[in-house]
Amino acid sequence: MPPSPLIGTSPLTIRDDFLPISKPTISEAEIAEVVDTLRSGWITTGPKTQRFEEEFAAFVGVPHALAVSSATGGLHIGLIALGLKPGDEVITTPITWAATVNMVEALDATPIFVDVDPATLQIDTAQVEAAITERTVGILPVHFAGAPSDLAALASIADRYDLWIFEDAAHGVGTRAGGRHVGSTSALSVFSFHPIKNMTTIEGGVLTLTDDELERALRALRFHGLEKSAWNRYAAGGTPQVQVTRPGFKYNFTDVQASLGIHQLAAVEGFNQRRRELAALYHELLAEVPEIQRPAAPTYDHDHTWHLYVIQVLPEAGLSRDEMMAALRERNVGTGLHFVAVHTQPYYAQKYPQWLGALPAAERASDRLCSLPLYPSMTEDDVRYVVAAIQDVLVHARR
Ligand SMILES: Cc1ncc(COP(=O)(O)O)c(C=O)c1O
Repeated sequence: MPPSPLIGTSPLTIRDDFLPISKPTISEAEIAEVVDTLRSGWITTGPKTQRFEEEFAAFVGVPHALAVSSATGGLHIGLIALGLKPGDEVITTPITWAATVNMVEALDATPIFVDVDPATLQIDTAQVEAAITERTVGILPVHFAGAPSDLAALASIADRYDLWIFEDAAHGVGTRAGGRHVGSTSALSVFSFHPIKNMTTIEGGVLTLTDDELERALRALRFHGLEKSAWNRYAAGGTPQVQVTRPGFKYNFTDVQASLGIHQLAAVEGFNQRRRELAALYHELLAEVPEIQRPAAPTYDHDHTWHLYVIQVLPEAGLSRDEMMAALRERNVGTGLHFVAVHTQPYYAQKYPQWLGALPAAERASDRLCSLPLYPSMTEDDVRYVVAAIQDVLVHARR
């Protein structure tokens, strides 16, 4: 790699346009497919959703994929379908988006936090067993930033204690562990297609699973407790009579979303490869910046999809993470915060004060972490600019 013309240039010439943390890559194929759907006469859940589900299931390598309106909705009905009851305990990570924990809490079950590995920020599997009690029913790991949690270690614990694993694979489209796609080996998994994710359907998500009975329950929970979808009911040959088999929700996916999803899924391996290249360049350039801790990849066999590139602003930087984010914004660089440790959020800190101070790796990371811009249409020069901007901020902080 030739030396960057931008690195070390001082003063920094501030770019004219704002570099966002993320931007979806939408091609003409998605646009044409959406238009085709809008003109087709059937725009909600229908044949394109079914096709998308089949293609997603094949991509992950599972018999069933159920598309839902969001990963949050998927977590909600997934936990219900797994039989989560008030008072049950679910082991999870504090370094996640609140949705993971909120859905446990919304069902009056109790989240039990296990600290993260300080290098990878994945749930520390060495601490999971000690967190198991008589009330523990399952483990809800999060494949943070596009790297997998240590699924082999978690599966061995879950087998020994007869627990389910529900993978939060919101960051994990294309992520593999030991050669297998995440979301293919556990009782249940959920992916997200929010616009910041590695592929998008605007909003949306998908549940992946193998068990036929669980699939039937989820299908009903997804749509009012019906075992037939509206599309089947209104299609030629369908019957409009419906039977409510349980009090379900309305978390279905539309054919407009599927129109995006079909083409995004076909492109996602290419998107992920581009993310890997950009992450490698960040990694190389940031090796020269000792005040910044670079994200560490797990040591077990995996394919990383770099959903996020999460740095940590070390104390020697001479400024806080929040100050770094504000200074980068002044230099036209957007950043993100993935994530504030959930147990420190006001609701959780008040309800479960026992966790405060008990998860030191998560709390330290939570104060220091910051996600840098990373998306397939970024250029190498954009990455060089971000690193030059960080260096410029650090030079000013030292003055
Ligand atoms: C780890 C994690 N889980 C769950 C979700 C929820 O996804 P959605 O926005 O599709 O509901 C997100 C969203 O950012 C997430 O990052």
